[in-house]
Amino acid sequence: MLKGIVLAGGRGTRLHPVTSAVSKQLLPVYNKPMIYYPLSVLMLAGIRDILVITRPDHIGQFRALLGDGEHLGVSIGYAPQEEPRGIAEALTIGAGHIGDDPFALVLGDNVFHGPGLYSLLHTSAAELDGCVLFGYPVSDPERYGVGEVDAEGRLVSLEEKPAAPASNLAVTGLYMYGPDAVDIARGLAPSDRGELEITDVNIAYLKQGRARMVDLGRGFAWLDAGTHDSLLHAAQYVQVLEERQGIRIACLEEIAYRMGFIDAEACMELGRRYGGSAYGAYLMEIAETA
Ligand code: TTP
Repeated sequence: MLKGIVLAGGRGTRLHPVTSAVSKQLLPVYNKPMIYYPLSVLMLAGIRDILVITRPDHIGQFRALLGDGEHLGVSIGYAPQEEPRGIAEALTIGAGHIGDDPFALVLGDNVFHGPGLYSLLHTSAAELDGCVLFGYPVSDPERYGVGEVDAEGRLVSLEEKPAAPASNLAVTGLYMYGPDAVDIARGLAPSDRGELEITDVNIAYLKQGRARMVDLGRGFAWLDAGTHDSLLHAAQYVQVLEERQGIRIACLEEIAYRMGFIDAEACMELGRRYGGSAYGAYLMEIAETA
């Protein structure tokens, strides 16, 4: 059974002073906290056992928001990352949570939305042997980790911020790994910037011939909300789609209901909990009609 980790620590430097007192991943992306978006990805993948890793001084805020996850029919635990020592540190911090299971890791400031996400996640999880990365076509690949795949979707090269990118596929903040990723992360030396780099974990799998990369494709939205502008863009994206279609993106309560994690009555109850808000009204409508 796939487990899940959301990495939601970091300094949030680029969003200062907004992040001086509040975690970046709790800032709103339009009408819900940022962490709802990556959490929705894990839940859509069918994951019900989730660890949120964040700064020690922010754990209380996340717990106040999400509790133990029972209201969503999932289990949510928390673990501290004392300092932002790199994304791959999530694997060593999460070792106890991961145990002998495969898992998905998602960055707390990444928004994924698009057609076919559900099946993409389920197919990728079913075929997981080693690691699966999710590539996204961008116009400026030299700013990202860039992956190149063969005709079978096997990763053949991976480079951080390459001057001459081998493809236009940026590596996004969603990763699936086998449990052996923990040992790979434990064996890593910190990079020049003193971090445990997730790219090094991925390169280890690449060398073993066990790394795949799925192309999220055009028509898909991958946004990270780490700067004032990208945060605003993400909010605008969500607002336009929600208003036009009358649906809600990354509504965790709705996803919990549709995934069968909670029943209609529980969904209705959550709607009442947010009574007086359009969010609450939406949940009650879902519970009545879905
Ligand atoms: P970044 O955006 O690279 O870093 P940051 O969130 O600290 O922001 P800034 O660069 O403005 O200082 O991190 C991407 C995501 O990964 C974000 O959700 C925070 C998370 N993260 C950690 O939780 N711990 C870490 O050690 C790192 C490197 C990132």
